[in-house]
Amino acid sequence: IGKELALTPVMGWNSWNTFGQDLTEALVIETAEAMIANGMRDLGYNYINIDDLWQLKERGADGHIVIDSTKFPRGIKYVADYLHERGFRLGIYSDASKYTCAGVCGSYGFEEIDARDFAEWGVDLLKYDYCGAPASRDTAIARYRKMGEALRATDRSIIYSVCEWGRREPWEWAREVGGHYWRTTEDIRDAWDLRESGTGLYGILDIIDKNAKLADYAFPGAWNDPDMLVIGICGKSSSINSGDVQYGCNLKEYRTHMSMWCMMAAPLLCGNDVRNMPDSVLRILTNPEIIAINQDVLGLQGRMMKKEGNCEIWMKPLDGGRVALAVMNRGDEPEEVVVPLDLLGFGKAFVRDVWLHQNVGEFEQLKLNLEPHVTAVFKLE
Ligand code: DGJ
Repeated sequence: IGKELALTPVMGWNSWNTFGQDLTEALVIETAEAMIANGMRDLGYNYINIDDLWQLKERGADGHIVIDSTKFPRGIKYVADYLHERGFRLGIYSDASKYTCAGVCGSYGFEEIDARDFAEWGVDLLKYDYCGAPASRDTAIARYRKMGEALRATDRSIIYSVCEWGRREPWEWAREVGGHYWRTTEDIRDAWDLRESGTGLYGILDIIDKNAKLADYAFPGAWNDPDMLVIGICGKSSSINSGDVQYGCNLKEYRTHMSMWCMMAAPLLCGNDVRNMPDSVLRILTNPEIIAINQDVLGLQGRMMKKEGNCEIWMKPLDGGRVALAVMNRGDEPEEVVVPLDLLGFGKAFVRDVWLHQNVGEFEQLKLNLEPHVTAVFKLE
């Protein structure tokens, strides 16, 4: 209470992208243990977020949401205590209507009761969805405000994630109703680019294009949320990989995904099975240098400065006069690109390659050869 929350983008894991309905206490605990063992927790991935389907469909006669006891036999508080003892925080999920997207109990009309229950259980973050609720922007604002007030009325500091998919310009009002970050897009899918698929679904590039326009709205405690990470899902998800589309990305594309979410100061919520992930995926998620760009205390969302052919040149100012530079080849062929560093305000700069973990030297311009779908990221000072 009284303390500012989410001064840097939230980092952690969320159950939805891989597990959907297969969400259990055992999954949450095994995930936390894996994130301790593989170093993720200590790199800052400290929120474990339970998404849709932890609850039953109908509210109890006592007015409280009923926890699905086949999934959480010892309740949510048990899980929260377990996580807190190990340095994690717990996120939970509800919806601003009677039922959630997956058709179980939402919080509309019971905001105070639910917020108090969440606080009593030791919940540290609420993702509040908008399925089944009226389309109007005013109604959305009112419903999000209601839950925002209910959360603030508890004696717990709870991060508030506004999830109405960017349909009602939440960047203009979510902060004001107590939100700490707000979705800017429809759900992400485990795909590179779906613009030409005719499905209206969003892959990584589609999401970047929409979120990029909203850089002005991000600051410490208030972030654009271009949705969770699909890194390492590799086509294996029944909750987000549906319909007649080719799913799964390659490692270069997942690395671009990580690079751009860090450049855009986005929440870093991974959604893969962290209990069973190849080293190649772990290395993408746990590069401390790219995470430092995401977590930089200035809290500025990076912007595209220039496009050369299919390559986008992005800049994110960092604390201490340093700058992060990303060059993304969104095209399907290798491309050569020259980046004059005066574009980023440097006559000359010391350049460090954040993915190669190497100082590359002092330059006035950078000449790069980028494979298709690759993003190179540098720190300049
Ligand atoms: C829609 C949200 O955008 C997703 O992230 C996820 O929370 C699902 N709802 C759950 O039903």
